Amino acid sequence: GLPQRVDVYEVGPRDGLQNELRTLPTKDKARLVEALVAAGEKRIEVTSFVSPKWIPQLADAEELLRLVGRKPGVVFSALVPNLKGLQRAREAGLQEAAVFISASEAHSKKNINKSIAEALEASREVATAAAGMGMRVRGYLSTVWGCPYEGHVPVERVVDICRQLVDMGLYQLSLGDTIGVGTPRQTEEILSALLKYIPLEKLALHLHDTRGTALANALVGLSAGVTTFDASIGGLGGCPYAPGAAGNLATEDAVFMFQGMGVETGINMDRLVEAGELAQELIGRKLAGKFLQAALGE
Ligand code: HMG
Ligand code: MG
Repeated sequence: GLPQRVDVYEVGPRDGLQNELRTLPTKDKARLVEALVAAGEKRIEVTSFVSPKWIPQLADAEELLRLVGRKPGVVFSALVPNLKGLQRAREAGLQEAAVFISASEAHSKKNINKSIAEALEASREVATAAAGMGMRVRGYLSTVWGCPYEGHVPVERVVDICRQLVDMGLYQLSLGDTIGVGTPRQTEEILSALLKYIPLEKLALHLHDTRGTALANALVGLSAGVTTFDASIGGLGGCPYAPGAAGNLATEDAVFMFQGMGVETGINMDRLVEAGELAQELIGRKLAGKFLQAALGE
């Protein structure tokens, strides 16, 4: 049967806002995060501690973490590409951070100016240092379903990199369909190849909905027993170094499907729609989330 309960890992404030042309004022980001917390979201990636030259939209990471209200039981996380990022995250009071690498060389170079081998090394440094600080580290692997520059990505390479990431002690590995090219049978194949080596509980799915297949792929993951799904409020999101990457799977669409199938998320749908409405108002355009548009249209 299906899992009784899943975790939704919210990436809207990070993956969503990093890709928006309009940079939100810090206080508006804080309002958005607080609305997500009010909806019952428990795991939220609030920003990135990356180079502000590379991602100017998130240059206010420290200020955001000073402004945003904390609630017991809610874990905030942020992307960190290197030791400098980890140090910044720690000084901002985070107990968790996320490293990110690519399964294709060309995307790796464009995104972090490193080869895959160099990125693995940087992730290992972060994982080791974080363990010494008592911080948890999550990992992302991008371009698992395909690369905007190289196209096909061999599943053997994905398995090889994932094994190295898990061996570093990352508590969870989130598989990225960075440009939203995945289809359900491929998702089945990727999961079954990985599950030979990696425990199911360690895996999360990070699906972009560029071609409308994110929810179908999430359903494949759910049926295989995956219990963590990344999503972004209203479907905000993308990757500035992956041309054509659109929003992530919309949080409301994912929660609607899970709850409708009897899978608990702990999230309140009405409050989630309020958060989506706020996201839309702050960004100043209609967002792609289907449930959100249906709810607002009623
Ligand atoms: P670099 O320019 O190659 O390297 O950047 P560097 O280490 O020489 O650093 C250059 C400058 O940045 C230096 O400053 C550093 O101090 C500074 P300068 O001397 O020029 O004044 N710097 C930093 N500043 C603040 N915080 C830091 C930091 N590190 C260096 N942590 C680097 C290499 C990795 C830093 C850069 O390429 C970078 O920041 N890239 C981030 C790109 C990014 O955030 N992409 C989007 C997230 S990934 C994604 O969206 C995919 C995902 O959603 C999953 C999926 O969908 O597949 C996660
Ligand atoms: Mg992403």
